[in-house]
Amino acid sequence: MSGSDSNKIGILIVGLGGNNGVTLLAGHTAAKHGLSWESGGCPGKGRVSAPNWGGCITQLPPKGVHGGVGFQGVYDLASAQEAAVGGWDIRPTPLGDALYECRVLDYDLVRQVREEMNSMEIKKGIYNSTFLGETQHATATHIVDTASLSFWQQVEHIRKDIRDFNAAQQVTGHTTVIWSASVERPADVAHIQTAQQLLKILKDTAAQDISPSMIYATAAALEGCSFVNGGSQNTLGPALNFLFELSFRTTLLEQEPDTATSTKPAYLLGTDFKAGQTKFKTAAVEYIRALGLTPRVIASSNHLGNNDMLNLTSQTTLNAKMRVKHSIFGPWNEQDLDHQVKVMYVPFMGDEKRDVVEYTSTAFLHQEHTMLTYTRCMDSVLCVPLMIDSAVWCDFFARHNTASNPVAKATAYLFKIPEGGAQGVDPGFHHQMETLRTVLKQVTNAAATDDKKGVDELLLKGLAAGILSQEQVNQLKALA
Ligand SMILES: NC(=O)c1ccc[n+]([C@@H]2O[C@H](COP(=O)([O-])OP(=O)(O)OC[C@H]3O[C@@H](n4cnc5c(N)ncnc54)[C@H](O)[C@@H]3O)[C@@H](O)[C@H]2O)c1
Repeated sequence: MSGSDSNKIGILIVGLGGNNGVTLLAGHTAAKHGLSWESGGCPGKGRVSAPNWGGCITQLPPKGVHGGVGFQGVYDLASAQEAAVGGWDIRPTPLGDALYECRVLDYDLVRQVREEMNSMEIKKGIYNSTFLGETQHATATHIVDTASLSFWQQVEHIRKDIRDFNAAQQVTGHTTVIWSASVERPADVAHIQTAQQLLKILKDTAAQDISPSMIYATAAALEGCSFVNGGSQNTLGPALNFLFELSFRTTLLEQEPDTATSTKPAYLLGTDFKAGQTKFKTAAVEYIRALGLTPRVIASSNHLGNNDMLNLTSQTTLNAKMRVKHSIFGPWNEQDLDHQVKVMYVPFMGDEKRDVVEYTSTAFLHQEHTMLTYTRCMDSVLCVPLMIDSAVWCDFFARHNTASNPVAKATAYLFKIPEGGAQGVDPGFHHQMETLRTVLKQVTNAAATDDKKGVDELLLKGLAAGILSQEQVNQLKALA
């Protein structure tokens, strides 16, 4: 099936009204209507722009004699423009107004999509104040009334939301639920090691530290949807990994008949989108190591003033973020590396992140080698393409029935801490892109081999039934 055929995928965003959510929706709406708009800022002030999929490698074609850039047209990838987009938020702000308030995109574009976006549905979110920074509590009014609901009833509520969305939007492809909501504090769930334990706790117990993200992820698994954890909290773990395994969900039907579940392939991916500064760090340190230098100090700072950063002014949520930021180079075992990260909340900057990283390494005869990088970009402009690509990859791999481990490895480049079957992979950005290419080739070669086997079997049947002569079989085999 080609991407432009009727493969309409679903993208369900937890945190739809946040900067990432509304930026994605604005791009999708602009593409749908083929809008054009004038750029408001410098550089490029006054330039007339049209929608594009910059940064979405699943939507861009390869470029140049050696390829590179994108994968559109190389594999049968779904079209982002044809995707159905929806989701949940705990804030009631209409989506067009939220887009206006976050000041990520040019006003001339915002002006054109605001009214339509204001009319789009925001599903009520599952909220537990203890998991978010205090700064988020006052606006959390658009919430499911969970006071009298068990965890299991909350899961059932979200499952119904997913089913209603797929039916209303006539989704024909795979649906992916993406956590693009605020970072949660870590949940105390280390003792939940199996899917059976998780289901039992959700069904029978109230006194457990279950985060909203675990509720959404469980609901996604049981509906046969993928779940992508774009935040840095510890949602993913062994119990959820089991639940996303198709073989487990198939046996679950027999073991727990009261837990009706989908038997479609689905993936659990994360943790924390590797969007800008961290992605470049993993390319830069890969380069330094490939030169044979020894990285000694990476002093990294960034400052911005969006709501995500405001949430991180709370120590518990900040700890969750710093855990993943600090761990990114782990598998390289650079014992002498002093990696320092500082983040600053400066409201005046809004969503425009400025990051500065100084890399100091030792070179020939222990002489120093220092590089400095400075990057500016709207944070959501960096992150939204990863949200789109993750949903398109999940659909592609689900259609090819690819097992969870290769999918985790292929998509590791999207995350700061690749999880599941990708735990401990090489953090290098280029290495990870190569793994993506390798897995894509393996998946499509396997599909081609399956096709060939099918054709061979059919021809032999034709021969046995006397419909085809041996000569015709040989000629048809040569054609196939
Ligand atoms: N923008 C980037 O470059 C980038 C990179 C990596 C990771 N992330 C992560 O992506 C997430 C979103 O970033 P953002 O800038 O859009 O943040 P944001 O604060 O603008 O949006 C988050 C939204 O989530 C909503 N929310 C919180 N808890 C919810 C719940 N339980 N259910 C439903 N909605 C809920 C909030 O009301 C808010 O509207 C954050 O976790 C952030 O750390 C962003």
